Amino acid sequence: MIRGSSYRLFTRLVLSLFVSFLTVDVNAVSADESVQAAVKVLVAYHSQSGNTERMAEAVVEGAKSLPGTTVVLKRVGQVTADDLFSSDAIIVGSPVYWSNMSGEVKTFFDNWQFKFGVFPDFKMKNKIGAAFATGGQISSGKEVTMLTILAAMLGNQMIVVSGGGAFGASATTEGDSPGIDKRELADAQALGRRVAEVAAMLRPTPSN
Ligand SMILES: Cc1cc2nc3c(=O)[nH]c(=O)nc-3n(C[C@H](O)[C@H](O)[C@H](O)COP(=O)(O)O)c2cc1C
Repeated sequence: MIRGSSYRLFTRLVLSLFVSFLTVDVNAVSADESVQAAVKVLVAYHSQSGNTERMAEAVVEGAKSLPGTTVVLKRVGQVTADDLFSSDAIIVGSPVYWSNMSGEVKTFFDNWQFKFGVFPDFKMKNKIGAAFATGGQISSGKEVTMLTILAAMLGNQMIVVSGGGAFGASATTEGDSPGIDKRELADAQALGRRVAEVAAMLRPTPSN
């Protein structure tokens, strides 16, 4: 009798261990799948002399470092409606012009309405947004430039995130600066990676 109940207890223990093993395994698979989620990130930039383009390429590297992420890199003037609306996240980069985003980047945002008709339906709503900038001087408008990019995104009810620096990634390119350095490129990569991660976390689950 004692032997019988011990045997049943042992069987239950083995069974429950087996079930918990299966549960852990299933969770591990789904966590893996969510990391592999195919998010699409659009990196759009303006660059006249190549600095912002270099940062854009580092942002792309960072985003691509998250497995399963698709990244489209385009100059702001080349972005199509499909690029915009099919992306889960958009990261916009600008050189600092007179302590603000360049005219090309401002026109890009204006075209969300004039060319792409984002309003009144808020077609960019709940997509992830982020910014990066390059400026000639240490303190002459990089943060304002990133904040005005983020402001345009907030006006479109996007979810803005930072990375690299407090408001995004930035680099100083003129004066005493030797040009974009490794740390600034690493910040740009960190921004791209973080945007891809947040987009993967918030991506709507496809309905069955
Ligand atoms: C019209 C113009 C205005 C600029 N204004 C500023 C400025 O206000 N503050 C600053 O730090 N750099 C300023 N710059 C320097 C650029 O922001 C800097 O060189 C930037 O890295 C250029 O980016 P790009 O190589 O991608 O074109 C200005 C450059 C131009 C051409």
